Amino acid sequence: MTIAAIRAAFPVLSRAGFHYLDNAAMAQCPGTVVKAVAAHDLTARANVHRGLHELARRADEAYDGARERVAAFLSAGADEVVFTGGCTLALNIVALALEERMQAGDRIVVSAAEHHSNLLPWLAMARRKGLDVAVIPVNRDGRLDLSDLSMIDRRCKVVAVTHASNVTGAVTDIPRLAGAAHAVGAVLAVDGAQRLPHGPVDPRELGADFYAFAGHKTYGPTGIGVLWGRREALETLPPALWGGGMVAGLDGDVPIPLDPPARFEAGTPPVAQAVGLARALDWMAGLDWPAVRAHEAALTRRLLDGLAGRDGIRLVGPADLADRLPVVSFAVEGCHPHDLSHLLAERGVAVRGGAHCARPLMSALGLDEGCVRASLAPYNDETDVDALLSGLDHAIGVLR
Ligand code: ALA
Repeated sequence: MTIAAIRAAFPVLSRAGFHYLDNAAMAQCPGTVVKAVAAHDLTARANVHRGLHELARRADEAYDGARERVAAFLSAGADEVVFTGGCTLALNIVALALEERMQAGDRIVVSAAEHHSNLLPWLAMARRKGLDVAVIPVNRDGRLDLSDLSMIDRRCKVVAVTHASNVTGAVTDIPRLAGAAHAVGAVLAVDGAQRLPHGPVDPRELGADFYAFAGHKTYGPTGIGVLWGRREALETLPPALWGGGMVAGLDGDVPIPLDPPARFEAGTPPVAQAVGLARALDWMAGLDWPAVRAHEAALTRRLLDGLAGRDGIRLVGPADLADRLPVVSFAVEGCHPHDLSHLLAERGVAVRGGAHCARPLMSALGLDEGCVRASLAPYNDETDVDALLSGLDHAIGVLR
């Protein structure tokens, strides 16, 4: 499939002069995904696992089928896939469910590159339980510095890291951290929000115990995320949230939780969104990923070279293409990232500017005002990168 054919699947991208480079915040949705969500709501809208009428049966079939398709994408079992309201909620569920086993003085290890969604839940838990939080530092180019992992010691019960930074695009060596975590009996929770949109992942093979991602970054609907949990890990966790659909009954006033995944899906789940997410992952599964990765790498190189050739631009993140996503951030001397983003938007170029919900990383890299981020998807092409670079020249000319 050509890039033009991939692009054609996304109606919004047909707008002339429009260059969407904010995919790390929210990817666009193929028309087939939008239609699948609408078709579900028009023909099978009912609550799931509760009713016996015709629409309820159709909804059950659609929802359970969506879970199977998401599981297949992750090379996982359907009982390992929990649907949640988003990636942030998935990570909060892991933290809340693990809290019961944490004792004062236990340690949680995070990295300095975490998005707030995989940092604040752990910091909140640490405050409630009197836990120690240790931080894996980053190098100057924003990659995790894994040279000294002595902080992952016997006190450590959880290692929580991102699979790839939403700012630098640097990909984390998850198998290495899995080895270190499991050697001391700790569990490894991985934020896959940024990595998963760039090709299928097998979280079990990586060594993760928990792996979370978002629908809206994987070309699917908003309001849905997935928590994959290794079967053996999910089975040992208590529920994190309470409500309908997640207990077998009550023993007096003590709830008897269902097995995973239902145990972690309290309340009405995002049914139509699950159908849409499954369709989006089917779309992803149909792509030629080696070709897409080569395309994304070529665009990243073009952008990195373009930035390197301009004065006063500081690249935030790796300058090479090894183990990095097509997510490129930069700061421009004398220009605030919000001003740059605004002027780029006026020329039809959509980027994100600011701290990117990653304050500790901004501090570690000395970026008090944040930075501008251009994040690419398989449907981007050279015209998008070139529009960004020429828009940048214009914006710098206005601001300096
Ligand atoms: N997590 C999203 C981002 O990095 C919103 O922009």
